[in-house]
Amino acid sequence: MKKNVSFGNFAILASGTGTNALALIETARESSFLPSFVLVNKKESPLVDSVPLLNIPCECIETKTKGVDEEFEKKALELCQKYEVKWLLLAGFLKILSAEFVNSFKNVEGVSQILNIHPSLLPKYPGLGGYKKAWQNEDQFLGHTIHLVTPELDSGPILLQKEFRREGYESLSECIEENKKQENQSYQSVLKLLMEKGLTLSDGVISLGD
Ligand code: GRF
Repeated sequence: MKKNVSFGNFAILASGTGTNALALIETARESSFLPSFVLVNKKESPLVDSVPLLNIPCECIETKTKGVDEEFEKKALELCQKYEVKWLLLAGFLKILSAEFVNSFKNVEGVSQILNIHPSLLPKYPGLGGYKKAWQNEDQFLGHTIHLVTPELDSGPILLQKEFRREGYESLSECIEENKKQENQSYQSVLKLLMEKGLTLSDGVISLGD
């Protein structure tokens, strides 16, 4: 049996430079379906200054511990309740989330309503440094993956995966720079489909669109 999971109020979580977060905001603005807020866990993130200029609240809750930060998660959940946020888009959010936190974003069918973009062709290279690991292993293909987040690290259902040839890149940094642009485009196309058509659950398998 097929079941549609429609998209809803969402927030973006980020830690770093924020190219994916800004790309998502650009797509959201085109559809007038703005994120309720952007949450960063590092006060140095350039998003702290750039996001409010787009008339979107940017909240900063600094993380202080390695691994799961319970205090951060408690405050993040309070924010989500305040803004009635049901979906999270992780965009370069470099913090492990607890199973309890992740499971609180499951819908009634048990489908995760948290998305993540990961810089490798999962299941290869979960964790940090996906491009670097593929580059150092001299993989012929590198790539990125957009997936639903489950409590197990970087292993939830895959919505989109894009690979590219290593050939032609002189250095790892050149390769990352070029392919971050492709990440931005991939995440934008996923968000567009999610807003327009949601997800489909069919015989336990989740896919993007209908
Ligand atoms: C991206 O490479 C993304 O795949 C990974 O973290 C990086 C974030 O980049 N999860 P940015 O902050 O969105 O520019």
